[in-house]
Amino acid sequence: MKNYIVHNEWNIIEEGFEPAYNEVSESIFSIGNGRMGQRANFEEDYSGKSLSGSYLAGVYYPDKTRVGWWKNGYPEYFAKVINSINWIGLHITVNGELLDLATCEVRNFQRRLDMKHGLLTRSFEAKLQNGTEVRIESTRVFHLFLSETASLRYTIQVLNQEKASLQVVSYLEGDVVNRDSNYDEHFWNFISSSTDSQLSVTMKTKKTDFIVRADLINRFTVNDTALESKFSKEQGARVSEAVEVSLVHQDVFAVEKRVSMVTSQNHIEGELEQAGKANVAHITSLSFDEIKDKQASSWESFWNESDIEIAADVAAQQAIRFNIFQLYQTYTGEDSRLNIGPKGFTGEKYGGVTYWDTEAYCVPFYLATQPADVARNLLLYRYQHLDKAIENAAKLGFSNGAALYPMVTMNGEECHNEWEITFEEIHRNGAIAFAIYNYQRYTGDWSYIEDYGLEVLVAISRFWAQRVNWSTEKEKYVMLGVTGPNEYENNVNNNWYTNTIAAWCLKYTLESIHTLKNSVHTKLTSIVEKIAFKEEEAVLWQHIIDHFYYPVDDDLGIFLQQDGYLDKEQVLVSDLPDTERPINQKWSWDRILRSCFIKQADVLQGLYFFEDEYDLDTIRRNYDFYEPRTVHESSLSPCVHAILASKLGNEAKAYEFYLRTARLDLDDYNNDTEDGLHITSMAGTWMSIVEGFAGMRVKDGTLSFQTFIPKTWDSYAFHVQFRGVKLFVKVKQDDFELVNKSDQEINVIFNGESILVEPLTTI
Ligand code: BGC
Repeated sequence: MKNYIVHNEWNIIEEGFEPAYNEVSESIFSIGNGRMGQRANFEEDYSGKSLSGSYLAGVYYPDKTRVGWWKNGYPEYFAKVINSINWIGLHITVNGELLDLATCEVRNFQRRLDMKHGLLTRSFEAKLQNGTEVRIESTRVFHLFLSETASLRYTIQVLNQEKASLQVVSYLEGDVVNRDSNYDEHFWNFISSSTDSQLSVTMKTKKTDFIVRADLINRFTVNDTALESKFSKEQGARVSEAVEVSLVHQDVFAVEKRVSMVTSQNHIEGELEQAGKANVAHITSLSFDEIKDKQASSWESFWNESDIEIAADVAAQQAIRFNIFQLYQTYTGEDSRLNIGPKGFTGEKYGGVTYWDTEAYCVPFYLATQPADVARNLLLYRYQHLDKAIENAAKLGFSNGAALYPMVTMNGEECHNEWEITFEEIHRNGAIAFAIYNYQRYTGDWSYIEDYGLEVLVAISRFWAQRVNWSTEKEKYVMLGVTGPNEYENNVNNNWYTNTIAAWCLKYTLESIHTLKNSVHTKLTSIVEKIAFKEEEAVLWQHIIDHFYYPVDDDLGIFLQQDGYLDKEQVLVSDLPDTERPINQKWSWDRILRSCFIKQADVLQGLYFFEDEYDLDTIRRNYDFYEPRTVHESSLSPCVHAILASKLGNEAKAYEFYLRTARLDLDDYNNDTEDGLHITSMAGTWMSIVEGFAGMRVKDGTLSFQTFIPKTWDSYAFHVQFRGVKLFVKVKQDDFELVNKSDQEINVIFNGESILVEPLTTI
C-alpha cells in the first residue's frame, strides 16, 4: 500500500518526483474521453521505468495464444487493445543536452489530474547535467466534445542563464510496441506518412486490418510569436517537426500539439484523410483556452448529473470522484460496439477486453447516472455477439442454439485460455441475463426484451438446460465441473452461485415469454419462429427449476459454496499472518486451491443479486460465515461485501469495505496499480455508496432507499436518473433532502416512508 497522493476534493495530486512510483502514477493520472485514452507518460524523453500506452477503443490485435498444454476448444488468440501512435512525443535538447528526468535533478515536480475540468497538468524544474535549469509546464486534454481529437500545451523557460539554445522536435511515432506481446511481435504495419504543412502517419494493424491515421498540427511560439519550423520524415513510421531557438531569460517557449486520430472503424478507408484533416483543422481553429473552456463545460454537464458529494471526508470524496471520472473516461456510452475493459485505457493487462464485470458491476452505474440508452448499448453489445456465443457453445459440444458467452472477448469470440476459466467459469452467462433483467427492472421498459433480450435469454437457457445433468443418486439436476466467481476453487461440483443463477435464468426466461404472450402487440410469435423455440423446452426448463440441487449445510444454516466446501480446513483470514498475503503472490497455486480462502464474493454475490428471495437472517448467517474467509484478492469483491454489510446494519464493515474499494488504486492496496487501474471495480465503488450506504433499490417499479451515513461524514449526496426523472438525494446525519430536478413527479420510498416529490421541488 502506498500513500503519496495528496488528498484533495477535485484533484489527484502528486508532489515531488519519485521515479520508483512512475509507472503507478502513469496509471493513476491516465486521461481519456471514451473513444481513446492514455497513460500519463511524459511528453519528453524518459529513460527510467515507464510503460508507454496510448489506446483507441475497439482497435485490437489477435495475439497468438501462448499456453503450456493445449486443450481442444482453446481460442487461437487473445485480443488486445494495443498501444497505438504516440502523438505526445517531444524530443527536447537544451544547450546540447537531452531533457530526461532520469538523468537530471528534478525540483518542485507536480502532477495533477483536474477531474472537474478534465485536464492533466504537470510542472517541474530540472537542472541538467550541463548546469542549465529549466522550468516546464504541460497541460493535456482528451476532448470530450470531439472525441477523435486531443491536445496539449507544453512550455519551457530557462531559469539560470541569460541565453540558452533550445531544440524541440515534436513527433508522431507509429512504430510502437506492447510490453505484453506474447511473441515479441510488432502489431502494426506502416502504411504512409506525410509532412506537407502538417504531420500525419497512417498505420494498419496486422491480421485485423484496422487502419489508424493520426494528423498533428504543432504550433511553436516564443512569447506568443510564431517560430519557423522544419518538417522531416524520419526512418520508419516517424515524422517530426523541429524548431531551434535561442532563449533569453524570461522567454516562454511554447509548443501546442493538436491531434486527430481516426480509424477505419468509424470511417471508410478512402475518407480517413479528409476526416483527419477536418478534425485537426477544427480543433486548431480554437485557442488552447477555448479548448479548456469547452472541455470544462462538457465535464460540468457530466458532473451535474453524476457527481457524488461527501462532506467532511476528503479522502473518501477524492476517491469516489476519481472512480466516477475514470469510468466515464473509459466509456461514455454512444457506441454499442464498445465496452469497458477491466483496465480501460490505463494499461495492457486484461487486454482491454470485456468480462462479466460489465454486466455485474458497470451496468448499474450507467443505468442510474446516464440516460437509459447507455446501458441499452451495453446490452446490445452482447446481443450483437449472440451468433458468436452460439458458435462458441457449439464448439464445446452444445447444440440447438445454446449460447455460451466468452469469459473474455473483443468481438464475441472467446479469448481466454485457461481451461478452468474458459470452459468452467460459465456463471458469466448468468450475469449477462441478469443485466437484461436489471435493465428491465430499472427502466420498466419491456421493449429491449422483446426486440433483442429474449433471444439472448433463450439461448442462455438452452445452454444451462444442456449443461446440467440428472443425478440418480440425488434425484436432482446437478452441475459438475465448474469454477464459480471464486477462482481460488476450480473444477468444483455444484457451485451454489452458478446453480442459483442458472435456475434463475431459466425462470426469468419463462416469465419473460409469459409476459410477452400476455401483451397486446407482441412480437413473440416471430421470435419463437426465428429461434425455433419449442414448448417441450419450456417443460424441461420448468422441470429443471423444480428439481435443481443446491448444496447447503443445515447445521450452520448456510449455502455451501460448492459440494465438499466444509471438508476443507476451516481457518479464517484473521489467522493468516500479513507476511503471507496476498496469498496469490505468496502461496503455490495448489495450496490456494486446497485452502478454504475465497478470492472474491461468491455465495455472497448470489445473495446480493437475489436478495429478495432470502430473509435477512439467511443473508446474515451466510455473510457472517463467508466474510471472514474472503481475502478480496479480486478488486470486484469488497463492494459486494460493502453492500451486504450495509444491508445488515454492519456500518463499520461497510465503511471499511468502501474505503478499500474506493482507494484501491489511489493507495495501491494490491500493489498492482502500475499495471493499470481497476476500472470495472470502480463501478462497484459507486454501488457501495448508492446501493450500500443509501440502500437504493427498485421495488415493484418504485425507487426505494434505506440509508445510513458513516459517523465521520457530515453528509453525502448523489444524483440518479429514473424513468425520466432526475433526482438529487442528500443524506445528512439527522436529516435528508430530495430534489426532483425534472418536470415529472416521482414517488419514492425513503427509509420505509412513501414520499411524493413534486416536479422541480425539494423535500
Ligand atoms: C476476477 C474476475 C474478473 C476479472 C477481470 C479476475 O481477477 O476474478 O471475476 O472478471 O478479474 O476483472
